[in-house]
Amino acid sequence: MQNFSYYNPTRILFGEGQIASIASHIPAHARVLVTYGGGSIRKNGVYDQVAAALAGLTWFEFGGIEPNPRYETLMRAVALARLERIDFVLAVGGGSVADGSKFIAAAARFEGEPWDILARHAPVHAALPLGVVLTLPATGSESNGFAVISREATGDKLSFGSEHCYPVFAVLDPRTTFSLPPRQVANGVVDAFVHTMEQYMTYPADAPLQDRFAEGILHTLIELGPQALARPDDYAVRASLMWSATLALNGLIGCGVPQDWATHMIGHEITAEFGLDHAQTLAVVLPGVLRARRADKRAKLLQYAARVWNRADGDEDARIEAAIVATERFFESLGVPTRLAAYGVAEAAAAPAKISARLAAHGFKALGEHGRITPAIAGEILAARL
Ligand code: NZQ
Ligand code: ZN
Repeated sequence: MQNFSYYNPTRILFGEGQIASIASHIPAHARVLVTYGGGSIRKNGVYDQVAAALAGLTWFEFGGIEPNPRYETLMRAVALARLERIDFVLAVGGGSVADGSKFIAAAARFEGEPWDILARHAPVHAALPLGVVLTLPATGSESNGFAVISREATGDKLSFGSEHCYPVFAVLDPRTTFSLPPRQVANGVVDAFVHTMEQYMTYPADAPLQDRFAEGILHTLIELGPQALARPDDYAVRASLMWSATLALNGLIGCGVPQDWATHMIGHEITAEFGLDHAQTLAVVLPGVLRARRADKRAKLLQYAARVWNRADGDEDARIEAAIVATERFFESLGVPTRLAAYGVAEAAAAPAKISARLAAHGFKALGEHGRITPAIAGEILAARL
């Protein structure tokens, strides 16, 4: 196992009815900014639960944070936070609201142009404390310090991470997910699956416990993903799905192991260029990365084939290919296509060159656990996924 430093200060408040307890985790004198998205929380009763829980506190609200949250929108929330002297941010929604709220929390305390946090990796020295009420299990954002922010004016989608941006608490009430449309449920399963793969599917690192954790999450998602779609109001299924998504990216399974993240970096550029949902990009790119890097990843691909897809016999190359095909079939079975063409992208043939150029422009010239995926190789990977 490699050396590591593990830090996760997020208190998880898991289960039905937990929204009612949030006030006891927010300082009594705080001026709270409740942030949310396009209105799903008003339809499913989560807004009312939050409002009831905050009765007695001083709070303001900022709605309209879009999927793939935009800098332009978030800066309006930063202005409100400064005007109202906000000292606690409460994000209520999916990964986009959580991510956007991390940026708001950091930007409100940032001196200078906050876009530099994303474009120039300007260090974040402080942020307003943040809590999250999660309504979409997918990103793990509720229990990590990362955020991915888009800028409409430039078409960029960039990420940052800071110790100061870990939520201080996150409510995971599986009931809040009952109202999710099937597309978002499927997206969440795929995103959590690929987060696990980015930290698992590299090369052996004498970390058998992390391997077993990762394989456990993958098995759980394979088992429960279809059930969550078939039975949208099955509490037990939603509960394990929600916990799986959090554990996939709260830092635990990544301790002491090499990590890939090439699929994500290529995927972010695809969302920025073509507007696909985050998880849709992952379903397209991951199988391509696995095939293109099968030599580097050979030992772990064989392990994955044997332990996750029960392919332990016969020709090794055939086992690896069978595991990659099984992965594609799993995504497709959830209703998430694994080829770019299925998303109706205009001029898809130009996609590899466009995405390659974007990666180069952003300085992402050596992706993957070995840093061997250049923009040109990323283009080749995508060319095989049209
Ligand atoms: O905006 P509202 O009206 O709330 O509707 C949302 C949105 O349209 C809806 N939704 C959320 N909860 C719902 C619901 N609809 C009905 N019932 C509910 N309970 O779902 C739609 C998508 O929401 P969004 O937050 O965009 O989805 P997700 O959680 O998948 O987040 C995606 C964003 O997270 C970033 C992605 O890049 C993308 O921008 N990521 C963040 C990561 C992190 N911070 O660690 C890691 C990930 O890899 C990812 O990159
Ligand atoms: Zn992701």
